[in-house]
Amino acid sequence: MSEKISVLISSKETEARIKVLADQINQDFAGQTVHLLGILKGSVFFMCELAKHLTIPTTMDFISCHSYQGTTSTGTLTFSKKPEHSIEGRNVILVEDIVDTGNTLSVLIPMLLEMKPACLKLATLLDKPSRRIHPEIKIDYLGFTIEDLFVVGYGLDYDQQYRALPFIGIVEQDSEGEKKN
Ligand code: IMP
Repeated sequence: MSEKISVLISSKETEARIKVLADQINQDFAGQTVHLLGILKGSVFFMCELAKHLTIPTTMDFISCHSYQGTTSTGTLTFSKKPEHSIEGRNVILVEDIVDTGNTLSVLIPMLLEMKPACLKLATLLDKPSRRIHPEIKIDYLGFTIEDLFVVGYGLDYDQQYRALPFIGIVEQDSEGEKKN
């Protein structure tokens, strides 16, 4: 199987947009501190680039979680890495790579709210609103809205590959391959 990656959003454009988001966070939380909580592994590049441009006191932590949804299940979520630091009383910014159906966040956000953060905001590099089945998910800091495309790079993977690409790309497969989405 051979795959070709075409650039959807260049690294220059991605980094410029992340800087705008960081400036917005610096302004919104002026005089306060923020705690970035990244969802592994996809958010890593986005979170690091965002953190580099934050001028307010910032702490960082990561979580890893998996949601399981059967045909009749309401969805449960298990942490394979729980938050290492308490989020109680903190200004938490949850950092995600992409919001797709919203299934993961629809379970994760209520769980985090039970941990009593001072506030909980959501930053995501990408949003695919056409795939959303949870319209209640509110994005506070958004990089780019994209169409219903399977994207890789800048932390996003295709079967664990392509995360390290410095741009956001689209996987194109040859005639024998089948595009994943
Ligand atoms: P959701 O729970 O359906 O919103 O799924 C969100 C997760 O699915 C993201 O954190 C990604 O790990 C994965 N995902 C969704 N769309 C893509 C994509 O286009 N490329 C790579 N991963 C994706």
